Amino acid sequence: MLGPRKSIEKLAQRESGHSLAKTLSWPHLIALGVGAIVGTGIYTLTGVGAERAGPAVILAFAIAGAVCACAALAYAEMATLIPAAGSAYTFSYAAMGETIAWVVGWSLILEYSLACSTVAVGWSGYLVGWIESAGVHLPAMLLVGPHGGGIVNLPAVLVALAVMGLLIAGTRESATLNIILVIIKLVALSIFVAMALPAFQSGNLEPFMPYGFASTEIGGEKRGVMAAAAIVFFAFYGFDAVATSAEEAKNPGRDLTIGIVGSMVVCTVIYMAVAITAVGALPFLQLANSPEPLALVLRELHQPLAAHLIALAAIIALPSVILVMMYGQSRVFFVMARDGLLPRSLARISPRTGAPTRITLMTGASIAVVAGIFRLDEIAELANAGTLIAFISVGACLMILRRRSPDLPRLFRCPKPYVVGTLTILGCAYLLFSLPETTLIRFGAWNVIGLLIYSLYGRSRSDEAQAIARTV
Ligand code: ALA
Repeated sequence: MLGPRKSIEKLAQRESGHSLAKTLSWPHLIALGVGAIVGTGIYTLTGVGAERAGPAVILAFAIAGAVCACAALAYAEMATLIPAAGSAYTFSYAAMGETIAWVVGWSLILEYSLACSTVAVGWSGYLVGWIESAGVHLPAMLLVGPHGGGIVNLPAVLVALAVMGLLIAGTRESATLNIILVIIKLVALSIFVAMALPAFQSGNLEPFMPYGFASTEIGGEKRGVMAAAAIVFFAFYGFDAVATSAEEAKNPGRDLTIGIVGSMVVCTVIYMAVAITAVGALPFLQLANSPEPLALVLRELHQPLAAHLIALAAIIALPSVILVMMYGQSRVFFVMARDGLLPRSLARISPRTGAPTRITLMTGASIAVVAGIFRLDEIAELANAGTLIAFISVGACLMILRRRSPDLPRLFRCPKPYVVGTLTILGCAYLLFSLPETTLIRFGAWNVIGLLIYSLYGRSRSDEAQAIARTV
């Protein structure tokens, strides 16, 4: 029923032949984490979060951050125990068998692709606002999908295709570029806080929780602090960038704990500061439907230059988040194809660029289509559903493998693994069930399709299944 398992010893050994230089210490890891994490979540979803929770969106950021910190610790131990490509999919293959690994991999495909589409739509919001605030008017039909009365969100399609082109050409984000982008993003958010905080009015924070705590249907939409937490959760992922660099850490035990918890704490503090500033400066309903809420706040406060700068920072920095996510997506797809669960021909690597061209083309085109047509919050929520399943599986893998293989070497040992693992599973499950029903139904449908493909194709063709067939 659960399918064959990959041998954890083999997976652990496979990569041990070529080790990377140990050059990173915790400040580098925090920079890496913050670079991968800060994106559309804070720049755009703050507005959606405010619509769902009112001023208590601040609390929603704190809850999502705390859950992600537990998931990140679990993730770090798993990444150092099984330093093989494929992250949660590969961990699950070793700990829980092929069927669950398939579900996790299939969910990761959804996570990464829809996260790219979400960031593309967020980017488009800032680009359009930036161009229009300069007095240039663009054809409205080409700026939003059918849900908003338009035809297609063309800027979102174009940025997704441009990033796909960069990946096909073999581009990867360099450490130097990452540092520059981290600085741009943080400076822009600091300018936002510095400019908008003086306009803080405590009256805007009342009532603090207009829709209560639990996610409840009000006026046809899920509202409440947990409904907001379930969407702003998007703002935190990307930390796997830190976990997967464990091999390069000078002192993994110490540096990884500080790097992971540190980047979560830094991001949570920044997000809460930005959220307090935004909901303190304007009544939350004004933020709700803006495609560029932070620029809107500054414009409303008559700070056009600062609004211009924050939009520019988003325009420059957000494509790198798409690059990292699209890279992750193509690698998960690649590993699943290499394992025989998807057609192996998809895993062919271009000898010139070292990139899996076919997979990148296929996924890049789907990402562009989704970004062109669908609504930002709907895409982000579905991406979150996929991610939450992956995080739940990592929490489970952590505990299962501590019990089953306690003596295998772990470069990083998660403190209090059973507490952290349980909190990860419970926290993510609570966030998952705080998502709107339509999202859960769509997610269920995605997995039904996935399981059909698995039973008709991958189950009999996977490497593990064929290895078993040869032995009987
Ligand atoms: N955490 C990333 C963002 O907010 C995905 O854009």
